[in-house]
Amino acid sequence: MVDLLLGLQWGDEGKGKIVDVLTKDYDIIARFQGGPNAGHTLEFDGIKHVLHTIPSGIFHKNAINIVGNGVVIDPVIFKKELDNLDKFNIDIVSKLFISRKAHLILPTHRLLDAASEAAKGKAKIGSTLKGIGPTYMDKTGRNGMRVGDLEFDNWKEKYRALANKHEAMIGFYDVDIQYDLEELEAEFYEGVATLKNLRFIDSEEYIFSAQDKGEKILAEGAQGSLLDIDFGTYPYVTSSNTTAAGACTGLGVAPNKIGRVLGIFKAYTTRVGSGPFPTELFDEDGETMGRVGNEFGATTGRPRRCGWLDLVALKYTVKINGVTELMMMKADVLSGFKSIKVCTAYTYKGEEITHLPYNVESEYVTPIYKEMKGWAKDLTKLTKAEELPSTLNDYIEFLEEQLNVPIKIVSVGPDRLQTIHR
Ligand code: IMP
Repeated sequence: MVDLLLGLQWGDEGKGKIVDVLTKDYDIIARFQGGPNAGHTLEFDGIKHVLHTIPSGIFHKNAINIVGNGVVIDPVIFKKELDNLDKFNIDIVSKLFISRKAHLILPTHRLLDAASEAAKGKAKIGSTLKGIGPTYMDKTGRNGMRVGDLEFDNWKEKYRALANKHEAMIGFYDVDIQYDLEELEAEFYEGVATLKNLRFIDSEEYIFSAQDKGEKILAEGAQGSLLDIDFGTYPYVTSSNTTAAGACTGLGVAPNKIGRVLGIFKAYTTRVGSGPFPTELFDEDGETMGRVGNEFGATTGRPRRCGWLDLVALKYTVKINGVTELMMMKADVLSGFKSIKVCTAYTYKGEEITHLPYNVESEYVTPIYKEMKGWAKDLTKLTKAEELPSTLNDYIEFLEEQLNVPIKIVSVGPDRLQTIHR
């Protein structure tokens, strides 16, 4: 069986930490979508580390880490990620395998991303500008370059043809994008050389045989369900399926081989980049969440927008993914709030609704809140469920009842050890 670990909001829920906490129970950790737009932060032994493409199991002695076919890889960023791991003395070659079917992000994909965003002006997506959208466009347009292409002698010709096409496309945008392609290409070739030191595999075959051997596999999602290309707040989304179905297509896992579906959410809500966010706060409460929660993007450093928990959206993503257990992150950030609000319904075109409608922009939707008592206690030193303040327990139990799924982990700080199992 393959267990899934997914973010249920707009990303940045804390997936990296939870994968790291759970890795000891798994033989294989596999990424199935997204690319270096992700920033998975892990903290242990006083060290803070951010991973972008490499699965979060890389720090555990025995886990094999797989970058699946659904992921898009930028060799330049990948090389930097590997260089940053040097100091940890990890035997990367025997622990990290790459799917031949994963697509490559070319330097010109990044330029196209920048040109597309600049051309959109005010309507920009707020992309991380890592070339994610253009790379998935080439994948679905059947023009992309894959990791497996690098095993053939003519890969540079393939690269050249695609890069030339991209340059012509950049010309179509009426924007001024400055770049030195020669310099970008030198970096790219260097990255490819590093990538080629790793083992390329047919990851679906590897996973089939691991399943036959009874090995335990965890599929690690990136971004969050509300950024899903189909079910997210389109067009303000990423270009992959971040939901459970993405693990089937991004790794070759059959639906009947999926076991537990672990859904991660923050005790409140955040979003980076543009797009609707019904429970967004523009007041002191939002500012406090951002400051206490250190809400800055792990990849871009941009401040994250903050707001109360949105149960309408969360119910939707719990259903889309078939979540079997929940993990609530950053409960400690809400300590000190006199009252906590949870959005339980929306007013939509004058009517009260409890489902996520097609339009969630503020001109259509006004959140309806339930107000609950807050807690003052500092949670960051707690280790046992019995120590949680009773008002926090009320909050947790209310969410469990509304979502009809148990909350199994409450995270009270960024470190591995600040994790309470229920
Ligand atoms: P892109 O995937 O870089 O094109 O970005 C599209 C949207 O998804 C933007 O609003 C980004 O801020 C957001 N996004 C992409 N990756 C992440 C992530 O890992 N965490 C949070 N937001 C993300």
